[in-house]
Amino acid sequence: MLKVIYDLNEWVEIRKEAIRENKLIGFVPTMGALHLGHRALIERSRRENDIVVVSIFVNPTQFNDANDLKKYPKTYDDDLEMLQECNVDYLIFPNYENMYPDNYHYKIIEDDFSTKLCGASRPGHFDGVLTVVMKLLNIIKPTCAYFGEKDYQQYKLIAGMVKAFFMDVEIVPCKTVRAEGGLALSSRNKLLTKDELKIAPLFNKFLSSNLSIPEIKMELEKNGFKIDYIEEINNRRFGAVFLGKVRLIDNVEI
Ligand code: PAF
Repeated sequence: MLKVIYDLNEWVEIRKEAIRENKLIGFVPTMGALHLGHRALIERSRRENDIVVVSIFVNPTQFNDANDLKKYPKTYDDDLEMLQECNVDYLIFPNYENMYPDNYHYKIIEDDFSTKLCGASRPGHFDGVLTVVMKLLNIIKPTCAYFGEKDYQQYKLIAGMVKAFFMDVEIVPCKTVRAEGGLALSSRNKLLTKDELKIAPLFNKFLSSNLSIPEIKMELEKNGFKIDYIEEINNRRFGAVFLGKVRLIDNVEI
């Protein structure tokens, strides 16, 4: 049965017992507004571990735009239902004071890849992501933590942080889950209008096509997207676009 944990000290005690019993702990960090992409991570964690922990924390330090934070979808009741259906054991649901007793005076900064792609247009975003993930991994101390490849830059930066700081956790990347038509599932899709939802799959269609980058940009713009970036790094093509007010990201192997 799902147990919701607000007090992080309670988890520390539960974990001690789990470790005494040699249990494998799988962890899926989220910001809520759960969708089938999260579900795939949780189901994999369920298959591979004895105990499954999910966190929901809308991390303010990774939003460089206060309005974006305010608009971030919140679907707590539906989230709980999904966690119960997936047989999750523990939901960690901390507040800002629990997570940031230092009020974000301490942070983790990577100064290379984090300044490119999404980092170039969202200054400070990855400092917030890496800092909160470091905190969550230090609290939960899982055996494995699961991250979706839709946020490939995030996954690579977290895997790099774990290596750089000799952290004792396995970071497991999981394939992007897509809607029919190819749109990568994302909590932000909930903010798209019906008309935008019809156009949105074109993002993945052109990103994964054989067109050149200028041609991809032109096709997307013709169809109403505003380009943030389309770039290729290490055999992977990354893109971020705006559809109306919603920013979508995706990446494909090339
Ligand atoms: O991918 C997300 O939902 C967030 O960036 C994460 C990893 C939960 C950190 O807040």
